[in-house]
Order: sequence, then structure tokens, then C-alpha cells
Amino acid sequence: MDVQPRELVEQAIKARERAYAPYSNFKVGAALLTASGKFFTGCNVENASYGLTVCAERVAIFNAVSEGEKEIQALAAVSEPGASMCGACRQVLSEFGEEIPVYLADVTGKYRMVSIKDLLPGAFGGKFLPG
Ligand code: THU
Repeated sequence: MDVQPRELVEQAIKARERAYAPYSNFKVGAALLTASGKFFTGCNVENASYGLTVCAERVAIFNAVSEGEKEIQALAAVSEPGASMCGACRQVLSEFGEEIPVYLADVTGKYRMVSIKDLLPGAFGGKFLPG
């Protein structure tokens, strides 16, 4: 399944519209494509307790995994300035592959591509655990 970055970014832009971010007003949308050709999206969901906030990228990843899709081909994240991904989301994405391309886009759809390996070099992973 070929990844079409534009399509992925478009889906992330739409997901961003559903962001629940009344505290930071910083809306983020994410979209990923799985090996079976399915798209999964997520938006950030904030909470009055602040610490319970979940990022858009993790919502998209958990959405896919909870639907039985673990082979992530690529992920796009959209925010107003085209921000990078937080460390927690990098760690969670790296669980599902070291070479996953990540498209970081602004709200106009302009994107840059990085690999999860570039975002989190030397990541901790299951290979370090016994068994
Ligand atoms: N946020 C994300 O959704 N993804 C990131 O990678 C960085 C931060 C959200 C969390 C919070 O709702 C808002 O952006 C401001 O930090």
C-alpha cells in the first residue's frame, strides 16, 4: 500500500477540527495509514486536570491498535505551526516500527517528512526486555 502524504495530511487536518483543547487552544490532528490500507485518526483531548490530556498522535495509534491494526505505514500530525511530536508520542509510535515515516504539517497542508528513528534515536524497545 503506497502512502500518499497529501491524503494523510488532509485526514489529519480534518481530525484536528475535532480537537478538544479548551485549555491550551492548541489543536492537533493526526492520521495514520495501516498495512491493510485503512486510515485511523485522532485529535488531542484535554482535561481540566491537565495531566490526563492525551495527544492526537496517541489517540490515532490507540484507535488503530484497538481495532486490530498494528502495522503502521505512516503517520501525519497537523498543528497550526507544523509542530513536532512530543516525546511520549515518539516512544509510543516507535513501539510499532523503527522506520515509520512521519509527516509534520501545518494547517495549510505544508509538510516535512521525518522518520521515527530520527525523532527518537536509540529508542527503548521490546528488544531490551527478556523473553
Ligand atoms: N499535543 C499533541 O496533541 N501532540 C503533540 O505531539 C504535542 C502536544 C497537544 C497536547 C495538548 O493538548 C496541546 O497539544 C498543547 O500541548
